[in-house]
Amino acid sequence: MSNTETPHRNFYGRRIGKPLKKGQAFHMENTLPRIAVDPANPGPGPQWLEIGFGGGEHTLHMAKTYPDVTITGAEAFINGVAKIVSRIGEQEIDNIRLHFGDARDLLEALPDAAFEKVFLLYPDPWPKLRHHRRRFVTPENIDQIARILKPGAEFRIATDIEDYVRQTMEVMIPRKDFIWTAMRPADWRTPWPDWTRTRYEAKAVREGRTPHYLTFNRR
Ligand SMILES: C[S@@+](CC[C@H](N)C(=O)[O-])C[C@H]1O[C@@H](n2cnc3c(N)ncnc32)[C@H](O)[C@@H]1O
Repeated sequence: MSNTETPHRNFYGRRIGKPLKKGQAFHMENTLPRIAVDPANPGPGPQWLEIGFGGGEHTLHMAKTYPDVTITGAEAFINGVAKIVSRIGEQEIDNIRLHFGDARDLLEALPDAAFEKVFLLYPDPWPKLRHHRRRFVTPENIDQIARILKPGAEFRIATDIEDYVRQTMEVMIPRKDFIWTAMRPADWRTPWPDWTRTRYEAKAVREGRTPHYLTFNRR
């Protein structure tokens, strides 16, 4: 499942940034194939999935905090993948699997009711009205996430964009297969106990925006 291209689907984000460093190129060639997702052969332990991990800070943090879990990360931006794959190679981390490509392709290939957590952290905000349909939280993508989650599993979304919260609620609240766990505002204002601040969140906070932490449980 490494670097698959989908002719049938548009991807609007950035895929390539600056040239890779020598060590990064080495790990892209040597480490990535070794840890590429194989849906038929998942790693041991509970399965968690992070969609659009960016620089991979949260993925690495969770993999180290929970060594008995296998965490799969999907990211389409080569420089993000190169960054995490170098860390994984250098630090010999063995409980991360990677999909370099569109997370929607990965979701389609994953089995039913196999995952205990899914993380969607600071998805691209696409602030212009005409671009809202590019946002990751759509009924179709949530159908796939619902399908791969076990009953009682957790789906975490973080965003600094109020209109993204609105869109998320519009999609999630009518669904019968998820329940929003928040009882009071503090629940969506307070990060998860095992949270680590991602690069994107740090930038959002520096620029005066407020993080929202939304937790949904699969029924
Ligand atoms: C705003 S960034 C946030 C990155 C990271 N989660 C963080 O909090 O720092 C969103 C990331 O999602 C990735 N992304 C967006 N759509 C994706 C998709 N369909 N499949 C895989 N990655 C995607 C982008 O490439 C980008 O790195």
